[in-house]
Amino acid sequence: MTDAYNKLLNAYNYIRSLTDFSPEIGIVLGSGLGNFANKIDVKLSINYNDIPEFPISTVDGHEGKFVFGFIETIPVVLMQGRVHYYEGYSISDVVMPVRLMGMMGVKNLVLTNAAGGISSNLTPGTLMAITDHISSFVPSPLIGANIDEFGTRFPDMSEVYNKELTKLIIKTGDEIGVVVEKGVYLQTTGPNYETPAEIRMYGKLGADVVGMSTVCEAIAAKHSGLNICGISCVTNMAAGISKTPLSHNEVKEVADRISDEFEKLIYNLVLKIGDNF
Ligand code: HPA
Repeated sequence: MTDAYNKLLNAYNYIRSLTDFSPEIGIVLGSGLGNFANKIDVKLSINYNDIPEFPISTVDGHEGKFVFGFIETIPVVLMQGRVHYYEGYSISDVVMPVRLMGMMGVKNLVLTNAAGGISSNLTPGTLMAITDHISSFVPSPLIGANIDEFGTRFPDMSEVYNKELTKLIIKTGDEIGVVVEKGVYLQTTGPNYETPAEIRMYGKLGADVVGMSTVCEAIAAKHSGLNICGISCVTNMAAGISKTPLSHNEVKEVADRISDEFEKLIYNLVLKIGDNF
């Protein structure tokens, strides 16, 4: 058994000492979705800092806890707050929470984030379903001894974001009157934003948006056999496309401004996943 797996088992056993709740859908809440827990029938919350050896977020505004509850009859777990690679944790620690969600029973995972728009149609306030990603600028979370309990050494990544789930995002948006674009997400390590030259390069490489999370989580979740979908909330035009300097405050402001739409989309998506998967 690997050290990484042992660490996960310790965390898992701690959670199981508190609850036997078995969520079907896991939702990682990015910027703008911090109040989503108010929308669900909460049964229990577990603070990350009570879980043994669990990575704790240091970012202002990123609360850290698992929230267990129901959306109508569907059992869900919310990850309220995530850790980022730039906080100094190893990349395998960064994906611990997502792996734990799989261990708790999650089959379908919804990843969300805030991102900078590179493609011209992805202006601030746009929601985008992630169709694929570029991970080449961050280390793989699977580096190190393979955790055979989760998956194979060389996992296929030709369809990380489940096509049916992605269609369901678009369909849900259509039905509730929320426009959802589609595109490719590229992860950087952060914490600095990109330079204009980097953004030009990422655009040429096929990225539609850029951000500092999600891809490593998607890789780990895919390795564990989860169905994954992702939604980015575009909070700003990326560096060089934007006429003004980028700031975390702008990101938070725009994410908060469209949080009602974003919450509605996620809520209705969960109901649809519950009916269809
Ligand atoms: N770059 C990287 N991460 C981000 C951005 C950005 O422009 N906006 C929100 N998160």
